[in-house]
Amino acid sequence: VKLSQDELKKQAAWKAVEYVTSGMKLGLGTGSTAAFAVDKIGQLLKDGTLKDIVAVPTSIRTYEQALSLGIPLATLDEVSELDLAIDGADEVDPNLHVVKGRGGALLREKMVELASKKFVCIVDESKLVEGLGGSKDAMPVEIVQFCWKYNLNRLQNLPELTGNVAKLRMDGDKPYVTDNSNYIVDLYFEDPIKDPHAAAEAISKLTGVVDHGLFLDMVDVCIVARSNGIEVMEK
Ligand code: A5P
Repeated sequence: VKLSQDELKKQAAWKAVEYVTSGMKLGLGTGSTAAFAVDKIGQLLKDGTLKDIVAVPTSIRTYEQALSLGIPLATLDEVSELDLAIDGADEVDPNLHVVKGRGGALLREKMVELASKKFVCIVDESKLVEGLGGSKDAMPVEIVQFCWKYNLNRLQNLPELTGNVAKLRMDGDKPYVTDNSNYIVDLYFEDPIKDPHAAAEAISKLTGVVDHGLFLDMVDVCIVARSNGIEVMEK
């Protein structure tokens, strides 16, 4: 039987939930894969298998999902160190560096995942790349609305990001607005990014750029669901 992509996402998510134990402070990711993990955590709390969980969501969407499941919620203002964060990714390279944010939640995801002692990333095999930027799909950068064209052009012209095409993310005929009231510039690469650390540093130096979707040296465990089984990659 060939498993659907949703089935693979669910398998990776459920495997990650095995890392959750009672009493933990959790970071809850955003996206279709993370949603399966949030559902499962809600179910385990409901049936009493898990107790005393406090969770910090990485988006308004995940906040609403967790709220509807009765998962006790907090913010980083209240709980500044988390035990474990579980979240999906858009691209994963062989060093477990990842691209995130195609769902628009990159800033809160990065804040929550950096505050977690352990970050477990959950993907199906379609997310694996040889080099970041290699999927030909977007590498998102969150920028302030003020003079967005100026920052879009600066991103497009960064030497550390050669060969990228930068586009303002749209939502219908209006710019897409993040949970933090910012815009997103999506970068599309001809070839994988040569030096992701240099790229990350160059992007971060631009004032008016809030954060970017390169999550480097952050993932501790990556659970990859493949059609022939689950692989657990560890740092
Ligand atoms: C949200 O902004 C993203 O970082 C998601 O975690 C990422 O896009 C993966 O989403 P899917 O699990 O829906 O592919």
